[in-house]
Amino acid sequence: MLSIQVPFFFPAANVFLFVFTASTVFHLQQRLAKVQPLWELQSPAPTWMINTTGHMGNPIAPMWTINAIGRLGNQMGQYATLYALAKMNGRPAFILPEMHRTLAPIFRITLPVLPSTMTIIHWQNYHLNDWMEEQYRHIRGDYVRLTGYPCSWTFYHHLRHEILQEFTLHDHVREEAQTFLRGLQVNGSQPVTFVGVHVRRGDYVHVMPNVWKGVVADRQYLERALAWFRARYSSAIFVVTSNGMAWCRENIDASRGDVVFAGNGIEGSPAKDFALLTQCNHTIMTIGTFGIWAAYLAGGETIYLANYTLPDSPFLKVFKPKAAFLPDWVGIPADLSPLLKH
Ligand SMILES: *[C@@H]1O[C@H](CO)[C@@H](O)[C@H](O)[C@H]1NC(C)=O
Ligand SMILES: *[C@@H]1O[C@H](CO)[C@@H](O)[C@H](O)[C@H]1NC(C)=O
Ligand SMILES: *[C@@H]1O[C@H](CO)[C@@H](O)[C@H](O)[C@H]1NC(C)=O
Ligand SMILES: *[C@@H]1O[C@H](CO)[C@@H](O)[C@H](O)[C@H]1NC(C)=O
Repeated sequence: MLSIQVPFFFPAANVFLFVFTASTVFHLQQRLAKVQPLWELQSPAPTWMINTTGHMGNPIAPMWTINAIGRLGNQMGQYATLYALAKMNGRPAFILPEMHRTLAPIFRITLPVLPSTMTIIHWQNYHLNDWMEEQYRHIRGDYVRLTGYPCSWTFYHHLRHEILQEFTLHDHVREEAQTFLRGLQVNGSQPVTFVGVHVRRGDYVHVMPNVWKGVVADRQYLERALAWFRARYSSAIFVVTSNGMAWCRENIDASRGDVVFAGNGIEGSPAKDFALLTQCNHTIMTIGTFGIWAAYLAGGETIYLANYTLPDSPFLKVFKPKAAFLPDWVGIPADLSPLLKH
């Protein structure tokens, strides 16, 4: 019945229970494989691993993981947070296959992947706020699954060098972006300074006012941000990426010849836009974790949209601006007057 061939080293009294558990688990697993993620299976059994050859091994070594939810920017935040907290607590970190599918095509990440169909683990969930807390230095448990949408340098900035290493672009991804940037000209010559501009539109155009009592970046913000760089760099070019490029073409003044509408804005395959932003020297971001990560990796000067919700917004309960934006980034406050009209 069981396709397990290795000898077991168990006290006789446990053998029956063990075999029963093993076979139940094995068959449940086959039935559930396509129905629900296996880590949601609440197994009463201890933590076991059935390895890729179908062998039941010993109770496995400790492993920590983190949920993989949201798109690229969110999952980068989750990855970096797992990396830092597991290290702080002396536990090995593993990522879920979904996270690997999101990040591995773009970055040279190194954390090992949990085998998706062969692992039954009774995870202990541990919810994280969006920012670092003292108690996260002392999380107990060998099989912890961190949850939440952490995206804050307060978790991992002390490991900045390692995080940048993890999020190094694959050569072909970087080369494609570099080839594009090298082909750009301002007034007939190659620009010296590249400023990546990320304009987050899409669902947030509605979500910010309707859910969070907030605004997205408007035309004036972008004008001021571009002016900030134009005043500092004589031959800069602005490389605009957005999931709302039509709005950008109408609202960003490109008449000086120093603005290029680049990227493809395809949310399902963000590699191209993201690579362009990180290969630029500086960043203008609007809102969202995609822009925050692009700025963090580009590493130059960063302009961000500040105070873009009303003071009583529920957004401020889950998002701490001080933990999201590095202290040396420069904020330009949003114009909230459209919200006050209603
Ligand atoms: C699976 O587990 C068995 C027993 O512990 C071991 O001999 C075998 O090498 C393992 N195979 C893999 C691929 O890990
Ligand atoms: C490009 O040249 C035109 C004409 O000399 C000038 O008005 C414009 O400011 C220049 N653009 C940049 C970005 O330097
Ligand atoms: C600015 O970015 C370009 C394109 O990636 C790069 O070639 C150049 O070396 C960067 N300049 C500085 C000062 O880092
Ligand atoms: C945002 O609001 C806070 C609180 O009113 C203020 O201290 C801060 O300077 C504002 N940030 C910017 C960039 O205007």
